[in-house]
Amino acid sequence: MTSTRDTTEKAQADDETQTDSNTNRRQPFPQGFLDTISTGWADRPDTLPAPRAQAPFAAKRRAKLSAAFPGQRLVIPAGSFKQRSNDTDYPFRAHSAFAHLTGWGADAVADSVLVFDPTDDGHDVSLFVRDRATREAEEFYRDATIGEFWVGPRPSLAAVSTDLGLRTDHLENFASGDEDLVVGVHEALTRAVSELRLEKDEYEVGQMQLAVDTTAKGFDDIVRDLPRIIDHPRGERVVEGVFHLRARSDGNWEGYDTIAASGPHACYLHWTRNDGAVLPGDLILIDAGVELDSLYTADITRTLPVSGTFTPIQRKIYETVREAADAAFAAARPGMKFLDLHNTAMRVIAERTAEWGLLPVTAEEALDADKGGHQRRYMVHGTSHHLGLDVHDCAQARREMYYEGEVTPGMVFTIEPGLYFQIDDETVPQEYRGIGVRIEDDILMTEDGPVNLSANIPRTADEVEAWIAQSRG
Ligand code: GLY
Ligand code: MN
Ligand code: MN
Repeated sequence: MTSTRDTTEKAQADDETQTDSNTNRRQPFPQGFLDTISTGWADRPDTLPAPRAQAPFAAKRRAKLSAAFPGQRLVIPAGSFKQRSNDTDYPFRAHSAFAHLTGWGADAVADSVLVFDPTDDGHDVSLFVRDRATREAEEFYRDATIGEFWVGPRPSLAAVSTDLGLRTDHLENFASGDEDLVVGVHEALTRAVSELRLEKDEYEVGQMQLAVDTTAKGFDDIVRDLPRIIDHPRGERVVEGVFHLRARSDGNWEGYDTIAASGPHACYLHWTRNDGAVLPGDLILIDAGVELDSLYTADITRTLPVSGTFTPIQRKIYETVREAADAAFAAARPGMKFLDLHNTAMRVIAERTAEWGLLPVTAEEALDADKGGHQRRYMVHGTSHHLGLDVHDCAQARREMYYEGEVTPGMVFTIEPGLYFQIDDETVPQEYRGIGVRIEDDILMTEDGPVNLSANIPRTADEVEAWIAQSRG
């Protein structure tokens, strides 16, 4: 196992070879300094936290995983810091399988490892964590990545143990063997931890609703700030920034890079460059989701008329996308095939684009599984994906468990049809060109049918116009 980075050793090695680009920044660390700085500190209190609400849910998830792999040692690393440039890293974000099985979210300590050791009747589970450095240790003062003097305190092993309800051990005691199954390396385990998340438990459902509600506030912020956004030459960046402020102040981060795509940029499905102006008369497509401290994320798209009202052609396209979304929602029920959410939305897209004279074939021909697909020129992406700790959750699940599998209660997924008419698409009349619309909602399936977790965010063309009008007083 090489994911553990001993940054102190690395710093020492760099000092010796003088090849490190930070040599100029590193100050001498003579014994006298260490002697002085390591004394004169009060004892650090170690009050033990109450177990977090997610702990019993994570324990049940671990029990399920244990039952699926009798007699095998399972290793689930949290992951390490990833370098952005030179000596700056991206903010640490634990692997989703690790977060799911520990209940540790934004406050997870990098390089930790969850281990299932096989026993006669299951597994003993341990969480290996880098223990706090003592005041005598050089790491405490010197290591700018993990030293507590630099980055703030990390919890003791005892605190982590009571918080998560897990046995903890020193990271330095962790050793891996050739027979271990490691998430991200071994296919069967990687698949299993992904499939384990297909149905959300009660805690997760609560977090998903909270993530959506927090995201709704971010969209309200954007709508309220539209005048300032229009005034700025890079208004798309302002949209991204306004949403980021909400994500950071009420959550951990965004679950993915915000798409703020105004005018023809809306036709680029994952436009995250966000460096364009937001101009009255255009539509702006905003696809954004707050990731909570628990790391559960929403994934919402709304398409707004920047001036406050849709033009007739914008409204026609918008309401067709909504018709496709509503059709998929109406078809959603336990026991249906997941892929039929997409097929249902695609039928509307094919029928309307055929009616408008955009297809070289009839809608039925376009919908033919073998010879069709013509309508996909205007909507190349899928309609639905699972959502949870990852925006594209459960991505390693087998196809027969996902697209070809059944929708069951507890699943959370998106419904997100769109229509995109590229600015240079000669197959459509001029008035369509440069218009891109997507409407994306987050859906929970229950025994009684689907629940739209994002139903409170204005959806219809009329509701969207009223939303903007209201924000302008
Ligand atoms: N935000 C990416 C997606 O909607 O799938
Ligand atoms: Mn999505
Ligand atoms: Mn999205």
